[in-house]
Amino acid sequence: MTLKNYLYSILLLGLALILVGCQSQKSQSKAKDASWTAVKKRGKLIVATETGFAPFAFKTLVDGKDTIVGSDVDMVKAIADQLGVEVEFKEMSFDNVLATVQSGKADIGISGISITKERQKSFLFSTGYYTAKTTLMIQKSQEEKLVSIDDFADKSIASQKGSIQETLAKEVFSDAQQVSLPQTGEMVMELKQGKVEGILLEEPIAKAYVAKNNDLMISSLDIPSDNSDQYGILLPKTSQALANKIDSVLKPMVTSGEVDQMIQDAFNLSVNQ
Ligand code: ARG
Repeated sequence: MTLKNYLYSILLLGLALILVGCQSQKSQSKAKDASWTAVKKRGKLIVATETGFAPFAFKTLVDGKDTIVGSDVDMVKAIADQLGVEVEFKEMSFDNVLATVQSGKADIGISGISITKERQKSFLFSTGYYTAKTTLMIQKSQEEKLVSIDDFADKSIASQKGSIQETLAKEVFSDAQQVSLPQTGEMVMELKQGKVEGILLEEPIAKAYVAKNNDLMISSLDIPSDNSDQYGILLPKTSQALANKIDSVLKPMVTSGEVDQMIQDAFNLSVNQ
């Protein structure tokens, strides 16, 4: 064998090994992602949610029974229906929704969860289904007094534990005292009692509270930050197959306006209950 031929065969062998390596890696990652097949086999999608977040997820009496309702709930039911599986909702605090999905104890999480770059490091998201904007809710009686960010320097701002508003509050109202609470209802209570002067909430949630509490209002103060975000369904990083399945039915529901209609209907239900 000439030296040239010898080198040539080594090169070929090397290439062959690389090819085999790639192939087995490919089949390995395919074999590992059983996220959709597991749901299908079980016949049920396990969903982590927080229900203090009208109009997206909340509780109401249906035929005398305390029931989880809301547009996120309707949306997941419609998705599961099209995929031919049942749904089981597990209720928990918002920060636990994230932790439960990360640990794989639920297949998905839904709860008005914003898609952020930070969360994308540890999670997958479905396609975005709603664009939300953060607003500041205050007591109506304070409308004239709390007009600028500086007016909050010696005041308290509340936000939900684990939410993007918690980060935003620290960034924007850096001189204010920060109060982080697990439930939206608690934050609203504190605002009504004057224990905090402002709370950061996304617009539809704030609107739902204002509609039922005439002592509260959405401040005209603009939050100076890129504060609009997309809601998505949260999945473990390893659940690409399930994410694809969900997107295949969710995308048409978003573009047809079906999801917006669900949000509108849920809003009406929440303010009239
Ligand atoms: N969209 C915000 C976030 O993702 C707040 C979500 C709060 N959701 C809830 N169910 N309480 O951080």
